[in-house]
This record gives sequence, C-alpha cells and structure tokens, in this order.
Amino acid sequence: MLFGRIDHIGVAVDDLEAAIELYGSRFGMREQHRETVESQGVEAVLLEVGDGHVELLQPLADDTAVGKFLAKRGPGLHHVAYQTDDIDRTLGVVRDAGIDLIDETPRIGIRGSRVAFLHPRSTGGVLTEIVEPVH
Ligand code: CO
Repeated sequence: MLFGRIDHIGVAVDDLEAAIELYGSRFGMREQHRETVESQGVEAVLLEVGDGHVELLQPLADDTAVGKFLAKRGPGLHHVAYQTDDIDRTLGVVRDAGIDLIDETPRIGIRGSRVAFLHPRSTGGVLTEIVEPVH
C-alpha cells in the first residue's frame, strides 16, 4: 500500500471565520489547529473529523495558488491529501509510474509535516497531496 489513509481534504475558502462557523455550528467539527503556512501562501485551519481532517485554506494573497484557484473556480474542494510513512519513497514510486510532480522534493507543510503535490493533469483532475506527518 502506497498510502496509509486519507489525511485531510483541502477546502478553499474566501472567508475563514465564516467557514469555521459553518463547519462548527452545522457539522459540529472542532477547530484543532491554526497556522500560517508560508510555503503554501495560506492561513490554514484543521477541523477534526474522526482520524482525519478538513483543512480550510484562505489565501494570504491573490497571486498564491489558492488565491488563483478562488478567482477562477470560487470556494470549494481544493485537494485530497493521502498519508504516507515515507514521502521520499512514495514520491519516487509515483514519479516512476509517470505521475507529474508539482514538488520534485518535499516541502514543509502544516504542523511540521513533509508534503508534496502531484499535478492534477496526471491524476484525473484531482490536485493530490502526499503527507508524511512528523513522527
Ligand atoms: Co493539504
């Protein structure tokens, strides 16, 4: 198995506080973590749902990846993130399988995790993130 489980679903939002209120009051999801992730140009909030998370993403500027996504598509589902124990190995496996990588090498993501994104043109239109949590 390449991926252990779904780590989180990324959701692009244009109003972080409104989104937290929506998920909190309607779905009862608790805010677990909040962080400015400079490497992704976002203010991110993790909401608890079972062992996984919903990751709310509000862009720090219009010219970031999420900012451009919002301008083009509006708020909504942004990416799916799969968890792995060994991101270097996993990246090598998917590269060898012909998947186009956005990140040739992992970068630091939320909560000190190591992350890498795969290009949606080779994943059926789904922006895909691989996450190796801090051990
Ligand atoms: Co993510």
